[in-house]
Amino acid sequence: MSMQKLSWDQSYSVGVAELDSHHQELFKLLNHFLDLAGKDYKSEVVTEALTKMTQYACLHLDREEELLREHGYPNFAGHKEQHARYKAKTVELCMGLMAGKSDTPAEIGSFLRDWWNGHVLKNDMEYKSFLNEKGVR
Ligand SMILES: [Fe+2]
Ligand SMILES: [Fe+2]
Repeated sequence: MSMQKLSWDQSYSVGVAELDSHHQELFKLLNHFLDLAGKDYKSEVVTEALTKMTQYACLHLDREEELLREHGYPNFAGHKEQHARYKAKTVELCMGLMAGKSDTPAEIGSFLRDWWNGHVLKNDMEYKSFLNEKGVR
Protein backbone atom coordinates (compact mmCIF):
# COMPACT_ATOMS: atom_id res chain seq x y z
CA MET A 1 0.00 0.00 0.00
CA SER A 2 1.44 3.37 -0.85
CA MET A 3 0.31 6.42 1.04
CA GLN A 4 -0.56 9.79 -0.35
CA LYS A 5 2.17 12.40 0.28
CA LEU A 6 2.19 16.11 0.99
CA SER A 7 3.90 18.27 -1.57
CA TRP A 8 4.76 21.84 -0.66
CA ASP A 9 3.84 24.55 -3.13
CA GLN A 10 3.10 28.29 -2.93
CA SER A 11 -0.36 27.65 -1.55
CA TYR A 12 1.39 26.53 1.67
CA SER A 13 3.52 29.66 1.92
CA VAL A 14 3.08 31.60 5.17
CA GLY A 15 5.19 34.43 3.77
CA VAL A 16 8.09 33.95 6.17
CA ALA A 17 11.14 32.32 4.56
CA GLU A 18 12.38 30.58 7.68
CA LEU A 19 8.99 29.05 8.49
CA ASP A 20 8.37 28.05 4.87
CA SER A 21 11.66 26.19 4.83
CA HIS A 22 10.72 24.47 8.11
CA HIS A 23 7.42 23.35 6.61
CA GLN A 24 9.23 22.06 3.51
CA GLU A 25 11.67 20.04 5.61
CA LEU A 26 8.79 18.74 7.72
CA PHE A 27 6.90 17.58 4.66
CA LYS A 28 10.05 15.77 3.51
CA LEU A 29 10.46 13.98 6.84
CA LEU A 30 6.77 13.19 6.94
CA ASN A 31 6.80 11.82 3.38
CA HIS A 32 9.72 9.59 4.29
CA PHE A 33 7.71 8.26 7.21
CA LEU A 34 4.67 7.76 4.95
CA ASP A 35 6.87 5.83 2.53
CA LEU A 36 7.92 3.44 5.26
CA ALA A 37 4.49 3.25 6.84
CA GLY A 38 2.97 2.11 3.55
CA LYS A 39 5.36 -0.81 3.34
CA ASP A 40 6.30 -3.63 5.60
CA TYR A 41 9.45 -2.25 7.16
CA LYS A 42 10.91 -3.28 10.47
CA SER A 43 9.31 -1.31 13.24
CA GLU A 44 12.68 0.13 14.34
CA VAL A 45 13.06 1.86 10.99
CA VAL A 46 9.53 3.24 11.12
CA THR A 47 9.93 4.38 14.71
CA GLU A 48 13.20 6.10 13.90
CA ALA A 49 11.60 8.03 11.04
CA LEU A 50 8.71 9.05 13.28
CA THR A 51 11.07 10.16 16.04
CA LYS A 52 13.10 12.24 13.61
CA MET A 53 9.99 13.89 12.25
CA THR A 54 8.67 14.54 15.74
CA GLN A 55 11.91 16.14 16.91
CA TYR A 56 12.02 18.45 13.93
CA ALA A 57 8.34 19.25 14.39
CA CYS A 58 8.95 20.34 18.00
CA LEU A 59 11.82 22.55 16.90
CA HIS A 60 9.60 24.22 14.32
CA LEU A 61 6.60 24.65 16.62
CA ASP A 62 8.79 26.26 19.29
CA ARG A 63 10.39 28.67 16.82
CA GLU A 64 7.03 29.60 15.36
CA GLU A 65 5.67 30.29 18.85
CA GLU A 66 8.73 32.38 19.62
CA LEU A 67 8.11 34.58 16.58
CA LEU A 68 4.39 34.91 17.31
CA ARG A 69 5.01 35.82 20.96
CA GLU A 70 7.79 38.25 20.10
CA HIS A 71 5.49 40.21 17.81
CA GLY A 72 2.42 40.07 20.01
CA TYR A 73 0.23 37.87 17.83
CA PRO A 74 -3.36 38.31 19.13
CA ASN A 75 -4.20 34.60 18.97
CA PHE A 76 -0.90 33.46 20.42
CA ALA A 77 -2.51 31.42 23.21
CA GLY A 78 -4.88 29.62 20.86
CA HIS A 79 -2.15 28.80 18.39
CA LYS A 80 0.17 27.56 21.11
CA GLU A 81 -2.65 25.40 22.47
CA GLN A 82 -3.00 23.72 19.06
CA HIS A 83 0.71 22.99 19.05
CA ALA A 84 0.56 21.64 22.60
CA ARG A 85 -2.24 19.25 21.69
CA TYR A 86 -0.29 18.05 18.67
CA LYS A 87 2.82 17.46 20.78
CA ALA A 88 0.89 15.48 23.40
CA LYS A 89 -0.77 13.39 20.70
CA THR A 90 2.48 12.57 18.88
CA VAL A 91 4.24 11.60 22.12
CA GLU A 92 1.35 9.21 22.75
CA LEU A 93 1.59 7.83 19.19
CA CYS A 94 5.38 7.38 19.38
CA MET A 95 5.16 5.54 22.67
CA GLY A 96 2.33 3.35 21.44
CA LEU A 97 4.25 2.50 18.29
CA MET A 98 7.37 1.60 20.24
CA ALA A 99 5.36 -0.59 22.59
CA GLY A 100 3.89 -2.35 19.58
CA LYS A 101 0.32 -1.55 20.49
CA SER A 102 -2.00 1.32 19.52
CA ASP A 103 -2.35 2.53 15.96
CA THR A 104 -0.55 1.13 12.93
CA PRO A 105 2.09 3.23 11.18
CA ALA A 106 -0.39 3.85 8.35
CA GLU A 107 -3.00 5.23 10.75
CA ILE A 108 -0.39 7.41 12.42
CA GLY A 109 0.79 8.56 9.00
CA SER A 110 -2.64 9.69 7.89
CA PHE A 111 -3.21 11.48 11.18
CA LEU A 112 0.10 13.37 10.81
CA ARG A 113 -0.51 14.15 7.16
CA ASP A 114 -4.00 15.51 7.79
CA TRP A 115 -2.88 17.47 10.83
CA TRP A 116 -0.01 19.23 9.03
CA ASN A 117 -2.02 19.85 5.93
CA GLY A 118 -4.85 21.42 7.91
CA HIS A 119 -2.69 23.27 10.41
CA VAL A 120 -0.49 24.99 7.84
CA LEU A 121 -3.30 25.81 5.42
CA LYS A 122 -5.72 27.05 8.04
CA ASN A 123 -4.04 27.98 11.34
CA ASP A 124 -0.58 29.04 10.20
CA MET A 125 -2.11 30.96 7.33
CA GLU A 126 -3.96 33.10 9.87
CA TYR A 127 -0.71 34.74 11.03
CA LYS A 128 0.59 35.35 7.49
CA SER A 129 -0.53 38.95 7.01
CA PHE A 130 0.02 39.75 10.69
CA LEU A 131 3.71 38.81 10.58
CA ASN A 132 4.20 40.37 7.18
CA GLU A 133 2.81 43.65 8.46
CA LYS A 134 5.33 43.44 11.30
CA GLY A 135 8.05 43.19 8.69
CA VAL A 136 8.75 39.48 9.21
CA ARG A 137 9.31 37.85 5.85
FE1 LIG B 1 1.57 26.53 13.83
FE1 LIG C 1 3.97 25.87 11.25
